[in-house]
Amino acid sequence: MDIKTLNIPPEVKREIEEFAAEVERLNRGEVSADDFKRFRLQQGIYGQRQDGEQMVRTKLPFGRVSADQLGCLADFADKYSNGILHVTTRQDIQFHFVKISDVPKGLQDLAEYALTTREACGNTVRNVTACHKSGTCANESFDVSPYAGAVSRFLLRHPLTQNMPRKFKIGFGGCNGCGLTAINDIGLNAVVRRENGKEIRGFKVLIGGGLGSYPQAAQLLAEFVPVKDLLRMCEAIVRIFEQYGDKKNRNKARFKFVLQKLGLEKLKELYEKEFASLSGAAYSEIKVQEDRMPDVSKFTPNHAFDSDPEFINWKSRNTCKQKQSGFYNTQIKLSLGDLTSAQARGVCQIASAYAAGYMVNTVNQNIMIPWVKEEAFGSLFGKLKEIGLHKSGTEQLRDITSCPGSETCNLGITASRGLARHLSEEMEKNHTASPELDGISIKISGCPNSCAQHHIASIGFHGAAKKVNGILTPFYELMLGGNISEAGAMFGTTVTKLPAKNIPAAVKRLTENYQQEKMAGESFVDFFARKGKMHFAALLDDLKYLPDIEKSPHSYTDFGSDKKFSLEDRGQGECAGAVTDMIQDHLAVAERSLFQGKLALEKAAFAEAVRQANRSVVASGRALLVTEGIDFTDDTESL
Ligand code: HEM
Ligand code: SF4
Repeated sequence: MDIKTLNIPPEVKREIEEFAAEVERLNRGEVSADDFKRFRLQQGIYGQRQDGEQMVRTKLPFGRVSADQLGCLADFADKYSNGILHVTTRQDIQFHFVKISDVPKGLQDLAEYALTTREACGNTVRNVTACHKSGTCANESFDVSPYAGAVSRFLLRHPLTQNMPRKFKIGFGGCNGCGLTAINDIGLNAVVRRENGKEIRGFKVLIGGGLGSYPQAAQLLAEFVPVKDLLRMCEAIVRIFEQYGDKKNRNKARFKFVLQKLGLEKLKELYEKEFASLSGAAYSEIKVQEDRMPDVSKFTPNHAFDSDPEFINWKSRNTCKQKQSGFYNTQIKLSLGDLTSAQARGVCQIASAYAAGYMVNTVNQNIMIPWVKEEAFGSLFGKLKEIGLHKSGTEQLRDITSCPGSETCNLGITASRGLARHLSEEMEKNHTASPELDGISIKISGCPNSCAQHHIASIGFHGAAKKVNGILTPFYELMLGGNISEAGAMFGTTVTKLPAKNIPAAVKRLTENYQQEKMAGESFVDFFARKGKMHFAALLDDLKYLPDIEKSPHSYTDFGSDKKFSLEDRGQGECAGAVTDMIQDHLAVAERSLFQGKLALEKAAFAEAVRQANRSVVASGRALLVTEGIDFTDDTESL
């Protein structure tokens, strides 16, 4: 493939060409599916449960996306996917059902709009997240988005992060309670200090948080690291992970296990040493434009909805005052994080016509349009209604989070999206909306890995399977009382395991019980703590059982399926592709570089040929070093 587009940086062009060449090698049978897997994961491409289908994840630092970029993503959905854009819990947008042969062209289309999928999957630094209201939130200490952007750019394609022991997550919060920092490997909360009458910006630094089947809340590394040391601090921590992360056992590889093994005090010591060793390194200055007030287009107010109860409800639930007087953050509620390409184009037009022309994806899988004036609410609501995105209630009970689940994920046990869809529809039908239920969140993962973050939900579920009356049946483990707040992360307590088809009844009982028995002003989390696990186990006890299959065959199937429930097509997970066989990894790089080098030589591109040859030699050397238990990240050291 010949990439001619001029505005794509050379290293990105090279990457896409390399991807195209690898796909051709795969098609010719010159590279094994396993070796190719490690390579494509690095580029943000997951294999789906369905053979030959890929999931493509674009990396959108702190979830921000311009109208042009969202337009490009909508085109991608139409050209290469099934016309659906999916907003993820790390503020990314991903696509399903993409053919591998379409990926190189798709990557090029994305690159033209400065979008990349690179390092969105695999053992890399995943998308850097930040609270979606960064820059507009009335409670924030300062706007963290420029810092999140700087860290993201600094670590992308950084040699240190190309073959990490495991994935690594970084999240920013503008104050103490936002940004889900406690469940990241590095969590950074904005803090302002006064020194000699001057304000100094910095971050409280938390480390070693993460969910998965072994959830851990991050611990305090430092009360205050000034912003001038941000990149150096991140590099120091990543270096420690690189040195101490367990590359042999992927189940123990995450940074939280390093923290567990070494202990916080030892880690602090290592950090101080590593940080000091980087004193001579140069880091680019992080530029911050203060108090940017974007241009907002002129518009004619629309009063047609002024007395419409749906509009009044939407205004009260989906809009929130910004710190900048006269402006509002407006949230668009998505069902399961999905929107069609036509809806995405509609959102682009709305953001350009009534706001600042950009959007932010939220960790709750919705889209926020900032910089909307109150006078524009009617027009904005009207336009959202035209594209079917005017539902009210974000970050509330009905706003359920789900992972892809067994619909597309290799590791999925249950169809979490099917359950989430069913619950939302039920609640919509029965008008289950009441301000006193607003504080309850529901999150559903299709297996214990917690991609939907069920551990931090008031009502969290993860998929399981169990035999009932001798028949394998989809089940969910129920966790109650999870929460993330200024006080940190509190993980839900496992209460019981219930058949999937009894979950809607269980949710109804839980919410009704809360409404009936809660004390004035008591949150669901406090209610759970006061009543205790046994109260809820007893409340739901009869729901553990199912009628005989003859009487109720559908009780034994999963949501969205009439077929007999089975785990036969469940595959191997891809979340840690590069860990399992490091030698294979290095050899695959060596072979690939050799091949690329030969191609470059044929084209008389001598500098590129030398670069690839060097890469091939280093990678072969590293493969040998693994047999000695050594893994250097530095090329010279390896040689
Ligand atoms: C052992 C394997 C895996 C583990 C432990 C794991 C764990 C997690 C966790 C904890 C999150 C929460 C989001 C956050 O970090 O803030 C997440 C996000 C996510 N995971 Fe997984 N995951 C695994 C494999 C997979 C697989 C195989 C898929 C399906 C293709 C998948 C799909 C997702 C998606 C769509 C997200 C949303 C966020 C994003 O943009 O990264 N995960 N994962
Ligand atoms: S939680 Fe399990 S089923 Fe859901 S996406 Fe993650 S790995 Fe797949």
